[in-house]
Amino acid sequence: MLAHLQDWLTLGIRWIHFIAGAAWIGASFYFNWLNHSLRPPEEERDNIGGEVWAVHGGDFFQVNKFKGAPEKLPGTLHWFKWEAYLTWISGFAMLVLVYYLKPGYLVDPSVADITQSQGVMIGLGTIVVGWFVYDLMCKSPLGKNGRLLAIIGFAMVVVVTYALCNVLGSRAAYIHVGAMLGTIMAANVFFVIIPNQRVMVDAMSKGEAPDVSLGEAGALRSLHNNYMTLPVLFVMVSNAHPSTFGHEYNWLILAALTIIGVMTRHYFNLKNKGKKQPLWLVASALGMFILAYLVSPKPAPALSENGAASSPITFAQVQTIMEARCTSCHAEKPTYEAFPTPPKGVILTSYDKIKAHQEQVKTSLETNYMPLGNLTKMTAEERQTVIQWIAQGAQFP
Ligand code: HEC
Repeated sequence: MLAHLQDWLTLGIRWIHFIAGAAWIGASFYFNWLNHSLRPPEEERDNIGGEVWAVHGGDFFQVNKFKGAPEKLPGTLHWFKWEAYLTWISGFAMLVLVYYLKPGYLVDPSVADITQSQGVMIGLGTIVVGWFVYDLMCKSPLGKNGRLLAIIGFAMVVVVTYALCNVLGSRAAYIHVGAMLGTIMAANVFFVIIPNQRVMVDAMSKGEAPDVSLGEAGALRSLHNNYMTLPVLFVMVSNAHPSTFGHEYNWLILAALTIIGVMTRHYFNLKNKGKKQPLWLVASALGMFILAYLVSPKPAPALSENGAASSPITFAQVQTIMEARCTSCHAEKPTYEAFPTPPKGVILTSYDKIKAHQEQVKTSLETNYMPLGNLTKMTAEERQTVIQWIAQGAQFP
């Protein structure tokens, strides 16, 4: 019952996380677009630098951008901050519910021999230290050299990814890179962008000129958030694709996809500024194809050492292995208490059911993703036996 409640709590929070994230990113894309779509006003008006006309949902809208500060602020000013905060809070709650409180995801003995609590410390440590290092870099003289900062920042993300992929379970390693970047994005809003805006608004309401350096610091963080968006989203969706995080070179895949995400974003940023350079988008698409090719699974190696064709594997052998290593979770009624229902609806108790999931089973075994965290201590030989059986056509005797 408790596990079931935890499952539904996670479901509800995941839903909120998705909605808040969509609202945050939607608003950020929208303002980005807005800022670059401004045209000089058709009729000269005081202090108006640009305007955008739009039609949406049958209504007409006119948005004005002030040249400097507006003379007078209205009673209500929208800040767009709760989308970011709620995304972070719900994301953190999921991290705790799925990775820290459930067994299997965080620690994988075949990767590193650490305890669950050590895994939690490493995960939380990465997120906290990641923010402080990033923040210090932005405030240091490096913050003045945007390009160098980006290169060093990217190199550090790759190092963190590599390190995490060598201490945590692969899916947890990926999600912690996403959590670190997502935390930086939300903390940028909370600690820099919003407070700086507040100081500027206060100055303006007292009739003083706002300190432009505060606006510049906020703009730098906004720009970073803009480029981090697509890589972070990739990490979130990659969770459903063991061929990414479960791959031998998972850290390189994440690094490559970060570059692809940044290039894609760059294309849209340039396009918004009126510079159409489709090569960026072509390069991203090409990168995806090349990556898909590079990570395609190798044919299963023959079991016999001397290279002769391996002898056919019987279903009985496979069934014995599944019963020992898989069905505690993948049955109609799992006996593994953390999983009240068969995960992903994958049931492996009969020939038909196994056959129906054979491709997924093969990938999950080739990538070492299953058994989850190898909680059931599957041996390498058993793994090869099942992979080989599927490669031989998953025959029933
Ligand atoms: C301790 C519980 C546990 C054990 C044991 C286990 N699994 Fe899983 N399995 C899971 C969980 C949890 C998921 C869902 C993971 C996710 O959300 O990505 C899953 C997902 C899967 C999937 C779907 C992956 C996909 O493509 O999304 C397959 C296939 C699978 N397991 C096969 C196996 C096989 C084969 C074994 C035995 C060798 C096994 N599992 C052992 C918990 C387990």
